[in-house]
Amino acid sequence: MTNHKTRIAVFCSGSGSNFQAIFHALKKKQLNAEIVLCLSNRSQCGAMEFAHQNVIATVHLTEKQFASFDEFAAAMVGCLREQRIDIIVLAGYMRKVPDTVVVAFQDKIINIHPALLPKFGGEGMYGIYVHTAVLDAGETESGATVHLVNEEYDKGRILMQRKVPVLPEDTPETLAARVLECEHRLYPEALEKLLDEQNS
Ligand code: GAR
Repeated sequence: MTNHKTRIAVFCSGSGSNFQAIFHALKKKQLNAEIVLCLSNRSQCGAMEFAHQNVIATVHLTEKQFASFDEFAAAMVGCLREQRIDIIVLAGYMRKVPDTVVVAFQDKIINIHPALLPKFGGEGMYGIYVHTAVLDAGETESGATVHLVNEEYDKGRILMQRKVPVLPEDTPETLAARVLECEHRLYPEALEKLLDEQNS
């Protein structure tokens, strides 16, 4: 057992509501972990705004800023090392994490996916596309999955999963809202599970 406070980086691309849910849960539960960095491929988004408001360091990092993908990936690893990051939480990050980062942070990266993996995962399956596919398939239930991140899209070990019903009158938007509400409760619980696993 160590007294070291786990240093978390969140990766976001959008509104950052999962980031906010985790931030508040860490404080409320007084867990021995804190979010010290928000990394985004977008310089301006809800997540970056929330980070600024709460005095969390931010970094805007995209492939376009570099001559090659390898340089981009190396810069990402460098930035995470510089901030002494222990765990990476993907919270609506709409980019694939470079393999170099996955290898450098093996079993230390988690993602939340807005469906019941292994169904409705993989490349191109994100955000509203997931909910549209669930409705098109005539599913009667959907949900959220928190999983470890490996080199393959949405294929890492599942940490936790929770179901929500799909209602006959659902649109992709109403289903997305129901799943998101579920995510906000599930993600902090799954992160706590990961922290327990890492400390045991
Ligand atoms: C969430 O529903 C999350 O599951 C999804 O994007 C949304 C982000 O919302 N992620 C993916 O689809 C990744 N494959 P947020 O920015 O408000 O947390």
